[in-house]
Amino acid sequence: MLSNKTIDVIKSTVPVLEEHGETITTHFYESMFKNHPELLNIFNHVNQEQGRQQKALANSVLAAAKYIDNLEAILPVVKQIAHKHRSLGVKAEHYPIVGEHLLAAIKDVLGDAATDEIIDAWAEAYQVIADVFISVEHEMYEEASNQPGGWDDFRPFTVSRIEKESDMITSFYLKPQDANKVATFLPGQYISIKFDIDGETYSHIRQYSLSCAPNNEYYRISVKREADDTDTPDGVVSTFLHDKIQEGDHLEVSAPAGSFFLDTESNAPVALISGGVGLTPMVSMAHFIAQNQPNRPVTFIHAAKNGNLHALNEGIQSLAEKNENFRYFVCYEEPTEQDKQTKHFAKEGFINTEWLQSILESTEGDFYFTGPVPFMKAINKSLLSLGVSNDHIHYEFFGPASDLEE
Ligand SMILES: Cc1cc2nc3c(=O)[nH]c(=O)nc-3n(C[C@H](O)[C@H](O)[C@H](O)COP(=O)(O)OP(=O)(O)OC[C@H]3O[C@@H](n4cnc5c(N)ncnc54)[C@H](O)[C@@H]3O)c2cc1C
Ligand code: HEM
Repeated sequence: MLSNKTIDVIKSTVPVLEEHGETITTHFYESMFKNHPELLNIFNHVNQEQGRQQKALANSVLAAAKYIDNLEAILPVVKQIAHKHRSLGVKAEHYPIVGEHLLAAIKDVLGDAATDEIIDAWAEAYQVIADVFISVEHEMYEEASNQPGGWDDFRPFTVSRIEKESDMITSFYLKPQDANKVATFLPGQYISIKFDIDGETYSHIRQYSLSCAPNNEYYRISVKREADDTDTPDGVVSTFLHDKIQEGDHLEVSAPAGSFFLDTESNAPVALISGGVGLTPMVSMAHFIAQNQPNRPVTFIHAAKNGNLHALNEGIQSLAEKNENFRYFVCYEEPTEQDKQTKHFAKEGFINTEWLQSILESTEGDFYFTGPVPFMKAINKSLLSLGVSNDHIHYEFFGPASDLEE
């Protein structure tokens, strides 16, 4: 238990942290990776360079500081982070390393303002926060390995099939090398995959949402090749998967994780809204509903640049053809001439509030969306303006979480 005095000190540092939050975490990462380069096998290097990870960690430290006397209130956030930690293989023994470097960074950045009282209070508070994460993650490791077909850490899988889904997106079907069952998952969840790539000093771990219906035999991921003609370096893992991985190759896979999933207990109408490769968890949800809840009304809305970049269309099209409760709407930003001739899209340009209003049958039920961050901001804003309640809005970032209302 923290003393009232410690709680007061922690709370009084929130404004200072708000001012220096990102600088503190930037210093923290620099010194931690200098002293513990082995942690670069777990952390995503590109997220560091782009500053997205710093922001996510800074935000969560601030949240913890604000709720230090009531950490229960931020348990859903802790669980979301803990799912990712568990899928990455973050362990209890890593916490003291993070704590030591976080405190040193706070001290460095605050200079004279970092009194012993502040540093001691933060050391105590970090321990309390770390203990919450460690215990939540411990339970998650147990759950992951004790479920039927389950395991903790990484398990070797074989790429059993590769299928091109669009000009940019390819699916990889993964089966366990030991030929035993694999843990099923909730539609919307992801796996982490660890890559050791020739010429790369450290491993790279990335998350991929499962794009098939839950089952005990195999997983399917559908990956966008992240490369364009700009000076930006190509995506390390997605280009490796597209350019190098072949059927029969092996990959190291975590058990499914994530707190973004379809409420499978409910039969309420759902709208599944996706932009680009963000459609993968929606496709899993759509197939789950088709197999298990055929009477559940579904509005599946997908935005792609054009028909050539539109993945997994046939599977969704066939769900819509077979079931009148399943409505399917496609929006192309810049349809090709061929798209215009075949007219298999409902809207040209971007999804906007008026169009959403015209196709949604109701603002009741649940709304799930994923896609590029600007797309997610626009959808969130539209849904709120149409009167959808916050409790019914669910989304996932394909990178470190950030704020949709910024
Ligand atoms: C929960 C979750 C689910 C996901 N599901 C999917 C999915 O189903 N399908 C999917 O395709 N992806 C998914 N992702 C994203 C995926 O994890 C990877 O982030 C993605 O494949 C890119 O990885 P990469 O190694 O190819 O790119 P990275 O090497 O990590 O680079 C990321 C991006 O940054 C650019 N970049 C690289 N270096 C720099 C730099 N110095 N400055 C600026 N930009 C730079 C790259 O070109 C690339 O576009 C998901 C992510 C999460 C968190
Ligand atoms: C109390 C301490 C910690 C807090 C508050 C914290 C918070 C966070 C947050 C907010 C994220 C972003 C989640 C997201 O993607 O949305 C994250 C991701 C991550 N955390 Fe932690 N974390 C803590 C401890 C640790 C430890 C001990 C490790 C292991 C060394 C670790 C490794 C990671 C990694 C590898 C990621 C993924 C980031 C990436 O993309 O590289 N964290 N953490």
